[in-house]
Amino acid sequence: MRDWVLITGCSTGIGRALVEACRQRGWGVVATARKVASLADLPDGEDLLRLPLDVTDPASLEAAAKACAGLHLTALINNAGYGQMGPLEMLRPEELRAQLETNVVGLHAATSAFLPLIRRNAAPGAGRVVHVASILGRMNVPMAGAYCASKHAVVALAETLRLEVAPAVRVMVVEPGAVRSEFRDTLTRAMGDLPERIQGTPFEPLVKAYLDRHRSHAQTHGLPAVACAARIAAAMSRANPPRRLVIGRDAFWSRAAKAVLPAGLWEWAVRKAFGL
Ligand SMILES: NC(=O)c1ccc[n+]([C@@H]2O[C@H](COP(=O)([O-])OP(=O)(O)OC[C@H]3O[C@@H](n4cnc5c(N)ncnc54)[C@H](OP(=O)(O)O)[C@@H]3O)[C@@H](O)[C@H]2O)c1
Repeated sequence: MRDWVLITGCSTGIGRALVEACRQRGWGVVATARKVASLADLPDGEDLLRLPLDVTDPASLEAAAKACAGLHLTALINNAGYGQMGPLEMLRPEELRAQLETNVVGLHAATSAFLPLIRRNAAPGAGRVVHVASILGRMNVPMAGAYCASKHAVVALAETLRLEVAPAVRVMVVEPGAVRSEFRDTLTRAMGDLPERIQGTPFEPLVKAYLDRHRSHAQTHGLPAVACAARIAAAMSRANPPRRLVIGRDAFWSRAAKAVLPAGLWEWAVRKAFGL
């Protein structure tokens, strides 16, 4: 019997690439997106089911869980998310709330919706829950306070869930560095009127440098989404998946530097890198 994995946020980027990466490894894939039409160009097959899913909408989650009831669903990849950028002093509470609602509460709601099916179907140890966090779930940088807070929370949820559902279900947390996807277009949209709001404040140069340099640097030098997805699909398909999967040289080296540098020196280097 074919094992199925449900993936959130498959319209673009890592989620989109995961659909093919998982299919290639023999998984049946429930590809989900807020707009199911965005999945129309995925190659048809007996191993693909397209479903609409907004992780912040309980009715949408319930409908998707019902639609999966007849499948041998044994895995979930919580991939959906976006980045709310902006200096914390200028961040509106509703922007922080929305960030946590999608990246944290939505991820938790999706886990709650599909975990009972995974428990029902998977042999002991064969169930998989994958949380796509970020290397910014272990460290913090200027401009990304809301996003970092959400990804630290994702790491905490993953590590707690692992303790609670082992050994039946294995929980893996993915910590990529920069990956080329739609992520940076989305975060520009999520910024809204921030570039106007910060005019005349000490944060104006920080936001300008971020928009001019950091965003495009990550988009140019980041890992292709396909390569990131291939690593995730390979790791989750192993009999003994890793607890943590750090992806990308930038993630590896920044993690190593943070571990060995004194805190003051680390903060100096990060501030310098962001022009502060
Ligand atoms: N790109 C990076 O550098 C990077 C690095 C580390 C971690 N990550 C993480 O990797 C994951 C995937 O990001 P990506 O880089 O592939 O960016 P992306 O191309 O922007 O894809 C994000 C996906 O999440 C979906 N999404 C957003 N809100 C949603 C909601 N409420 N319900 C369902 N789906 C929703 C988007 O759907 P719509 O098309 O409907 O908006 C899209 O399919 C995210 O969790 C991100 O934080 C990315």
